[in-house]
Amino acid sequence: MNRVYIKTYGCQMNERDSEAVGAMLRNRGYSMVYDEFDADVVLLNTCSVRDKAEQKAIGKTGYLAKRKRQEPGFILGIMGCMAQNRGIELLDRLPDLDLLVGTQKFHAVPDYLDRIIASRKGLGPRPATLVDLEAEEGSQNTIREHLHQERKVSAYVSIMQGCNMHCTFCIVPKTRGPERARPITEIVEEVEELAASGTREVTLLGQIVNSYGRREIPIRNRKSPFVQLLEKIQEVKGIERIRFTSPHPVGFKPDLVDAFRNLSKLCEYVHLPVQSGSNRVLKRMNRPYSVERYLKIVEALRDAAPGMYFSTDIIVGFPGETEADFRATCRLFDEVAFDMAYIFKYSTRSGTPAATMPDQIPREVKERRNQHLLRKLEGISLARNKTLEGTIEEVLVEGKARHGDLYRGRTRGYRSCLFPAHDRLVGQLVKVKISRVTPSTLYGQMVLKGVDTEAVERMRLQPSF
Ligand code: 5AD
Repeated sequence: MNRVYIKTYGCQMNERDSEAVGAMLRNRGYSMVYDEFDADVVLLNTCSVRDKAEQKAIGKTGYLAKRKRQEPGFILGIMGCMAQNRGIELLDRLPDLDLLVGTQKFHAVPDYLDRIIASRKGLGPRPATLVDLEAEEGSQNTIREHLHQERKVSAYVSIMQGCNMHCTFCIVPKTRGPERARPITEIVEEVEELAASGTREVTLLGQIVNSYGRREIPIRNRKSPFVQLLEKIQEVKGIERIRFTSPHPVGFKPDLVDAFRNLSKLCEYVHLPVQSGSNRVLKRMNRPYSVERYLKIVEALRDAAPGMYFSTDIIVGFPGETEADFRATCRLFDEVAFDMAYIFKYSTRSGTPAATMPDQIPREVKERRNQHLLRKLEGISLARNKTLEGTIEEVLVEGKARHGDLYRGRTRGYRSCLFPAHDRLVGQLVKVKISRVTPSTLYGQMVLKGVDTEAVERMRLQPSF
């Protein structure tokens, strides 16, 4: 009665929240399983950012509800953004749910599950759905436990919750609430613990990381709280690489640009959502920067770190987006030469200002624009990877690749890299000579001070040695 499977939809924040819930449940005596058919309890941690994500989770719940009818002991819950967004109205559609928990109550899940299970043991009727969608002061500090099943070479660290921006397309301020930062000392402690358990790379997570601690923590030596945090993490022994996601172009100040010059562990890869390459559309999105300003940030970052990799989020088919607006996005795409991009078709989110804007764009147009940018991305990404053929890249070995015998890791530029290696190298930085590339992956062999380790390995295996 205590095997739990958590299925996660959506962003890295959600993944991190699920992991923290899993760790809290394990500490409470539950066991975490990774197959829904092995589980007595299934929790869906949901996403609301686009309609498709909500539909997926609703479909899955419907499917699991059938199992619930056959197995009366089975427990089914929905957590996170969709719970927060749709509230108890969800129960009209999904009456079989045992648990509905919002984004500020993840830490309460162990108590609630205990309670549901205890009530099952009594003789009373099946209890009503347990619902908790309240806001809770300090909830940003509850996402700190990690699951240490196996050594986690690369880990997410949640540094804040919520968002105070009001992009007209976005549901996140509703699902995640206002911005709240965790204290620097607590984050650093978490990173130190991770380092002690073998983590070598941390990715700091927040809706808008560069506004971290803006209200709570004073500026020091012209450095924002976020840069102060990065400097502290740079000092943690054992951590070799620092990443973060996502910053906003507004508030991307020189102190953060300089951090890429000054902090050796900060990897030269920036995910900087632009959303559109048209100033007119940016205005309607309530993204308070211009394309010119965005390009200035890119230029400053390239100046600080010449090999910088850029990634972005783009929405195509925002209400009123004309062909000329879209061409402006294409131009920006070429000008920056984005190495990576998440390209989304605009999805109407009820309750947001854009939902009721005139000139909604037909589905086929969104699809065409989406495909056009995806092709562009593939070309640019392949061209960038081609420049890496024959070069030696520093790779952090993360583990076995999903298929085959190769190992996988990432370069500092967040390029996925596959190569022959050994278990004992997991968690180490190695040098890999790149021999072959695709738009998404680099393939190569490790080199050791210029020695081809593959050749050494072959020699070692020859019986005459
Ligand atoms: N439709 C499509 N994409 C969206 N995003 C946020 N809201 C919407 C929406 N309504 C995208 C943005 C954001 C990313 C996380 O999701 O590009 O940066």
